Amino acid sequence: MAEKISGLVIFLCVFASMGGFIFGYDTGEISGLTQMPDFQRRFGQLQPDGTYAFSNVREGLIVALLSIGTLCGCLLGAPVGDRLGRKPGLQIGCLFFIVGTIVQVSAVWAWYQVMIGRYIAGLGVGMLSTLVPIYQSEAAPKSIRGTLVSTYQLFITFGIFTAYLINYGTSHASNTSTAQWRVTIGIGFLWALILGIGMFFLPESPRFLLNNGEEERCRRTLARLRKCPIDDPTVNVDIKEIELKIEAERAFGPQNWLSCFKGPKAAYRTFLGMGIQALQQLTGANFFFYYGTSIFSATGVQNPFVTSIILGAVNFGCTFLGLYLVERFGRRKPLMMGAAWMFMCFLVFAFVGYYALDNADGTQNSQAGAAMIVFACLFILAFASTWGCMAWVVVAEMFPSRIRAKSIALATASNWTWNFLISFFTPFIIGSIGFRYGFVFAACCFAAIPVVYFFLYETKGLTLEQVDEMYCDPEVKPWTSSTTILERGGRR
Ligand code: BGC
Repeated sequence: MAEKISGLVIFLCVFASMGGFIFGYDTGEISGLTQMPDFQRRFGQLQPDGTYAFSNVREGLIVALLSIGTLCGCLLGAPVGDRLGRKPGLQIGCLFFIVGTIVQVSAVWAWYQVMIGRYIAGLGVGMLSTLVPIYQSEAAPKSIRGTLVSTYQLFITFGIFTAYLINYGTSHASNTSTAQWRVTIGIGFLWALILGIGMFFLPESPRFLLNNGEEERCRRTLARLRKCPIDDPTVNVDIKEIELKIEAERAFGPQNWLSCFKGPKAAYRTFLGMGIQALQQLTGANFFFYYGTSIFSATGVQNPFVTSIILGAVNFGCTFLGLYLVERFGRRKPLMMGAAWMFMCFLVFAFVGYYALDNADGTQNSQAGAAMIVFACLFILAFASTWGCMAWVVVAEMFPSRIRAKSIALATASNWTWNFLISFFTPFIIGSIGFRYGFVFAACCFAAIPVVYFFLYETKGLTLEQVDEMYCDPEVKPWTSSTTILERGGRR
């Protein structure tokens, strides 16, 4: 039976992706803020030469507190989303972000106020990063679920890119004007306000409603989302399928964090989700997003704001390709191909960086630098069109609903933990092994291929309930799962 897809469901998923925009915007703004003279003068430390700069510790704290906040926020998102609903959970995330923004913008001289503000905003970003993919995957029809959940990543990249552009714009304000940083941070307020208010007009997740005994509302919501009458056979089929799953899951009794590791293939999937998200970070993408500036300066591109804009634009543009690939080729193949491609790019990047970049006289070889930029962009092309979006997609769809929110939260926490570790330790590692660091990321990209091949199931074209059955079916192996989809009537 062909699925009916309403404009509402597309709007719902794209609109909820605004949560990704907030995530991206907040990630993107910080690299520029710490370079703005007025921000440095107010929150940095006076240097012997009369200028202001951040000590490593102070800068590290301002940058990293967001990651710590997001880590706590994504774990908080699960119980809030399970108890109050996905929709109120998203709205509470926006509220945290708004409060965090106000705390930061109202800072005058106290650097720790900015740090606390970033922690609070991070709580909001973390809650959104758990709840947006859950909300989207629970509402989306199976035939375009991959693309719709990928819009989350599209908006992350759009948010990063927008922040880079706004940073570039506000960096032209007077060096003694607070507008330099207040405008950039303050604009973030707007995105959270739009999402928080807009959510009042969108329906709650049908799976959450049925789980909470609200069958009538669930039926009405599904009918709106599938654009059909409430007694339409497709609605009945969906309700029946969700109901059966819920009943089976109730047999497991009340759920807590330990439940993520108990029950059929639960531990397997929770560890797999955490592994996939860890690997998404270990591909090394944020090495380019956080430290691209210094790499590019080797080739004569001196303005760090321009550097960021180039990387941000490649990242944003290539994510569109991911939206297409995820439905055309499924999840497994693009993830493996993407990992192989990124492995190759990092290998070349590290070789050139280590053996050819530095001339004997201490200057840098601009041709080697140019080659490194090309391979950095080729890397981002592969990341944005595969692991960037698909890590979120596969994690959003692999869990049964009884543990979905908590297991996704654990996987997301793994993403933020590795994000933090890589961003924090990169300067130290680069300091001691230089561009050979690229070989570490190359090895991780390579390791990602067998992980996907041996453990991840193909989920394209299946309902979330069918995905669960497939994971629990001892006859189906990950490497045969794509053919199983066809046999089970999934879409090619
Ligand atoms: C990752 C972020 C990264 C971003 C880049 C996201 O999927 O989780 O860490 O900065 O993609 O586009």
